[in-house]
Amino acid sequence: MTRPVYYKSFRSRKFQNIHLTSTSILDTTNQSDDVILDIGFGTGESTMALNEIFSEYIVCGIEAYKPGVKKLMAENIPVEYGDAAEIIEKFDDNKISQIYMLFPDPWQKVKHRKRRLFSEYTFKIINRILKRGGFFHFASDNINYAFQAKRIIEKASSRDVEFSKNRGFRPVTKYEVKGIKKRNFIFDLIYFKN
Ligand SMILES: C[S@@+](CC[C@H](N)C(=O)[O-])C[C@H]1O[C@@H](n2cnc3c(N)ncnc32)[C@H](O)[C@@H]1O
Repeated sequence: MTRPVYYKSFRSRKFQNIHLTSTSILDTTNQSDDVILDIGFGTGESTMALNEIFSEYIVCGIEAYKPGVKKLMAENIPVEYGDAAEIIEKFDDNKISQIYMLFPDPWQKVKHRKRRLFSEYTFKIINRILKRGGFFHFASDNINYAFQAKRIIEKASSRDVEFSKNRGFRPVTKYEVKGIKKRNFIFDLIYFKN
């Protein structure tokens, strides 16, 4: 089980001179027992929406796209810039109430699949850091990725996991809107940790 290959997108490189002063979200999460994590939030609309919906929680994000990180920093939302797979390794066990990974890059070409952020490796960490009774929400408009995620979760948890009939509380995201315009089907998987 190896960590997904971290691909620094051209967008990130273009903004490499932006100065980021965010403190570690590990410090923030250690100060509260009610934490929500939005992994790969892009431009941050989903994180801001979660922050409004779940106002009693501390909502944090991890992203590799600097302008998105800057935007949430301006909103005083705790964020961490960098490779989410590497950052979540540092979290304590049974710590996070809700984890969202919404529309991670699908990396459609077979030779690029090793870059997919959701993998056996990341799910093992996600399951470890989730609180008991907490949940992980994955969404994708890519059928191959959606079924791969379902298989990964089922194998690791030894449970049947069905695609959700609705999107629960998760916000509609910018990337999702693009998928809907292309008439793509949206797949939601919600995994509860016992
Ligand atoms: C397709 S976009 C989706 C963004 C947003 N969740 C949405 O639905 O609009 C995927 C995002 O994941 C981020 N990402 C990809 N790999 C990452 C990694 N290893 N660590 C952190 N963020 C990552 C990308 O920078 C990108 O913004």
